[in-house]
Amino acid sequence: MGKALVVGSFITDLTALTHKLPVPGETVLGYSFTAGPGGKGGNQAVQAARLGASVSIVTKIGNDVFGKEALSHFEKEGIETDWISTSDQEATGTALIAVEDSGENMIVVTPGACGQLSKKDVEKAEAAFRKTDIVVVQLETSMEAVEEAVWRAAAERKPLLLNPAPYQEIPEHLLEHVSYITPNETEASAITGINVGDEASAAEAARIIRKKGIPNVIITLGKKGCFISSGNEEYILPSEIVKAVDTTGAGDSFTGALAAELAEGKSLRDACGTAVKAAGLSVARYGTSPAMPWREEIL
Ligand code: RIB
Repeated sequence: MGKALVVGSFITDLTALTHKLPVPGETVLGYSFTAGPGGKGGNQAVQAARLGASVSIVTKIGNDVFGKEALSHFEKEGIETDWISTSDQEATGTALIAVEDSGENMIVVTPGACGQLSKKDVEKAEAAFRKTDIVVVQLETSMEAVEEAVWRAAAERKPLLLNPAPYQEIPEHLLEHVSYITPNETEASAITGINVGDEASAAEAARIIRKKGIPNVIITLGKKGCFISSGNEEYILPSEIVKAVDTTGAGDSFTGALAAELAEGKSLRDACGTAVKAAGLSVARYGTSPAMPWREEIL
């Protein structure tokens, strides 16, 4: 069993299903509402754990009902909670999510406590960095926490997987310590200035990202699968055709599954193959963390 350490966000997802997303200024009626566990870090941790990895998470929650639910949720998923800190000032992060019939969504995230995740909070998890096989980080907490996670992973010589979402500028000096990066088309476009939408533009963007010092670039292309650039190879792994009902969290399913497989020692091609399948299953059902598939389902 591989070990993965996720440094990232826990967010409570407040999700409304509606036939059609509103445009600015419009009010539309929804037909279903749920509140459940989410956040890019939390979703990735759950996906890695459901694939059988031994997972620890470093995050921050509020001293409130959503924070308590987060702890019992991670415990239920078998995820180590020793490195979760609690803020007395900020509430647990929330996301207001609307999903329409086509599966497309709109999201407003208020990071709350996980936006206050500090260098010190990450430092406290030193033992977790020592024992892990891979460190996974996103950009939904403070940049201070992201930087500390990157340095700690480098100091312990652990591979670092960066999911650059939601996109914000990343200090260039950090990039040379990143082993794997998983931008989607929008994030790859923001990083490189190339309008990524097909194989040729993904290849061009991947070359630019590799020049920044990252040896393995995996650009997720939604229903087209993913584009991989690693060593001397550049190729697409197509996804299987699924009926998407909710695409929220698909990127997290991909990154979490990739982390679990790499931690287990799988090749990048095989790990991405599993990740594409996991993401495909996750969009065929509603929700974020609750929609992450188990290994048996993928097999
Ligand atoms: O990637 C999906 C996640 O983004 C949701 O769970 C929501 O919490 C937002 O952070």
